[in-house]
Amino acid sequence: MPFNITSDPDFFFRSQHHLEALSAVLYGIEQRKGIILITGEVGTGKTTLCRAMLKELPPNTITSLVLNPYFSEIQLLKAIIEDFGVSILRSSRLDLINTLNMFLIDISSQGKNAVLIIDEAQNLSLRQLEQVRLLSNLETEKMKLLQVILVGQPELNVKLNAESARQIKQRISVKYHILPLAEDEISRYIEFRLEKANGRSIKFLPETFPLIYKFSKGIPRLVNIICDRALLLGFAKEKYVIDAVMVEKCIEELR
Ligand SMILES: Nc1ncnc2c1ncn2[C@@H]1O[C@H](COP(=O)(O)OP(=O)(O)OP(=O)(O)O)[C@@H](O)[C@H]1O
Ligand SMILES: [Mg+2]
Repeated sequence: MPFNITSDPDFFFRSQHHLEALSAVLYGIEQRKGIILITGEVGTGKTTLCRAMLKELPPNTITSLVLNPYFSEIQLLKAIIEDFGVSILRSSRLDLINTLNMFLIDISSQGKNAVLIIDEAQNLSLRQLEQVRLLSNLETEKMKLLQVILVGQPELNVKLNAESARQIKQRISVKYHILPLAEDEISRYIEFRLEKANGRSIKFLPETFPLIYKFSKGIPRLVNIICDRALLLGFAKEKYVIDAVMVEKCIEELR
């Protein structure tokens, strides 16, 4: 399934913006910058980037990835700790923070760097954001113990601009906004995904790329949706070459 709409990191295409986002993150982590903010419109590849990041971070990094932070502050703390692989014995807020603190001190004494990644961070409540800020404050005399990467849709910026979020906003030292693929990246994106899925016998004609770009505006999820349909149509017609007429038909159907 070359155009599956899951966020499989094996299919991670290094577009210019995804690469820049990745370097912003790597820089922020390496320099122990505290809080890093990555935003992007719906479907631009934020979750894919989060998963790809796990594979790209330096080997001395220990990560916790929270994908859907739709829960209370205590549950958020628990999710963070559990994803670090630490077992929770007592679950009052104070116990949880102590557990995390002890773990982070241990990690840091081993010369490792702890990183927390929160996807869908636009869904964090102001109180949860404040909790995250407090976590990013945990430190020894020498350094911060936890680097935090907040990843979310543009609403996250709106939330962070609220008066009550100014403390956390001030702590964000690295920011990157992921833009959609550029028009000249569409063909490489499609060919890359076909290649990854061993679909070398399938070809999208160059005439299809402008149509796909126009429909998707470069948003990878929309590129996948249209390409997946085109493949299905090709399959039905027993055709291995996807042309403009076929893509147009799919676009019509999706309208
Ligand atoms: N850089 C990329 N390389 C390969 N595929 C990508 C890339 N970016 C996005 N995609 C594909 O696009 C689709 C949407 O990506 P993803 O779910 O990561 O977007 P998102 O920004 O997290 O969306 P949402 O705002 O809805 O959470 C997925 O199928 C994913 O495989
Ligand atoms: Mg996502």
